[in-house]
Amino acid sequence: MNPPRSVEEERPLQCEEEPAASENQAIGEQRDDKTVKDDAVENKLEGATGSTDDSAKTEDLLDILARHLKARFRINDEGAEIPEPVIDEFSISGIAKYIKSDKCKNIIVLTGAGVSTSAGIPDFRSPGSGLYDNLSKYDLPTPGSIFDIHYFMENPKPFFMLAKELYPGSYQPTPAHYFIKLLEDKGLLLRNFTQNIDGLELLAGLSPDSVVAAHGTFYTSHCLKCGAEYPEQWVKERIFKDEVPKCSECNGIVKPDIVFFGEALPSRFFQLLQVDFTKCDLLIVMGTSLVVQPFASLIDRVHSSTPRLLINKEKCGEDGLFGGFDFSSERKYRDVAHLTTCDEGCFELAELLGWKEELKKLIEQGAFNENSKI
Ligand SMILES: NC(=O)c1ccc[n+]([C@@H]2O[C@H](COP(=O)([O-])OP(=O)(O)OC[C@H]3O[C@@H](n4cnc5c(N)ncnc54)[C@H](O)[C@@H]3O)[C@@H](O)[C@H]2O)c1
Ligand SMILES: [Zn+2]
Repeated sequence: MNPPRSVEEERPLQCEEEPAASENQAIGEQRDDKTVKDDAVENKLEGATGSTDDSAKTEDLLDILARHLKARFRINDEGAEIPEPVIDEFSISGIAKYIKSDKCKNIIVLTGAGVSTSAGIPDFRSPGSGLYDNLSKYDLPTPGSIFDIHYFMENPKPFFMLAKELYPGSYQPTPAHYFIKLLEDKGLLLRNFTQNIDGLELLAGLSPDSVVAAHGTFYTSHCLKCGAEYPEQWVKERIFKDEVPKCSECNGIVKPDIVFFGEALPSRFFQLLQVDFTKCDLLIVMGTSLVVQPFASLIDRVHSSTPRLLINKEKCGEDGLFGGFDFSSERKYRDVAHLTTCDEGCFELAELLGWKEELKKLIEQGAFNENSKI
């Protein structure tokens, strides 16, 4: 166990109830589930920006608005109407052709729980199989309470029971994870921003540098009271013994650094979104309902001409305040919805790219980088 750190040093717990936190809390850094929180426009605006001071926030918002308006009215950076879409076919083969062209060098992949369901990990919202439909045993006020920081501080047991079930190590990566690894091997992956906490990206062999774990990981934990950091193994042992891990210094609850609703996202998320999204030539979004902010707003951070491919069982992300996807209007020019499973979509894309055998080989080898930590 590491010695306790001072309150100033510790990873900020962005609990809305604590006055110090709310004073210093930059808007937009907290994880917010639109389905369980107030869906006001103000919240969406806040959720869309990750900047830490007022002028930066205003600039950030203006930038997002400008990109949205350009996208909506098909205006490019020079003010002229965009003559032609970047892809010549609004389908997965149009996207494959674009990947093969020399125009597509930096791909960002955004992932959610749907890339891991074929590994046996339930997602949140799929009717019937999703966690939200199967939480009755925890007797929660609302399904979202299990990841609500205020509820957790009152009643941490449900989260730790679930953490035991979902703990990384019991599941293997899926073909979709290996497809992202293949993009990395081909030198085409700029970054995989993931909402998942299952660690399957690293298990598939992706380098820690390629992954942004937007909602945190189980690899480190902190005492909610004094900020002491605890290593993974210490916490894991207690979780698997059905104990609530308690700080040996102050008896506070020790919580894995998973981002709960109402908590700050890791600073790496905000640093890299500023750097990466302006360079992105193609955005691939897989296995997410795009309802958790600020993650959901990432789709509107790419350049207004950048093609965006959604591989998901259902359409989503069409109602974004700053544009969102446009799969079907007469003005559509860059968004493709390929409605299937993530694994199937990745196999199809690999086939169109001539990479199917390589993907199969990667899956067989189960490329596994044991020592990687995000
Ligand atoms: N594996 C995990 O780490 C895990 C599991 C459950 C929840 N979560 C948390 O869930 C939160 C948010 O939601 P989300 O958007 O990631 O999940 P979600 O449950 O809200 O949505 C999942 C989406 O994926 C689709 N989907 C499910 N299985 C699919 C498949 N095999 N192929 C294609 N699409 C499929 C669903 O139709 C749905 O649109 C995240 O914050 C994450 O922290 C993570
Ligand atoms: Zn403590």
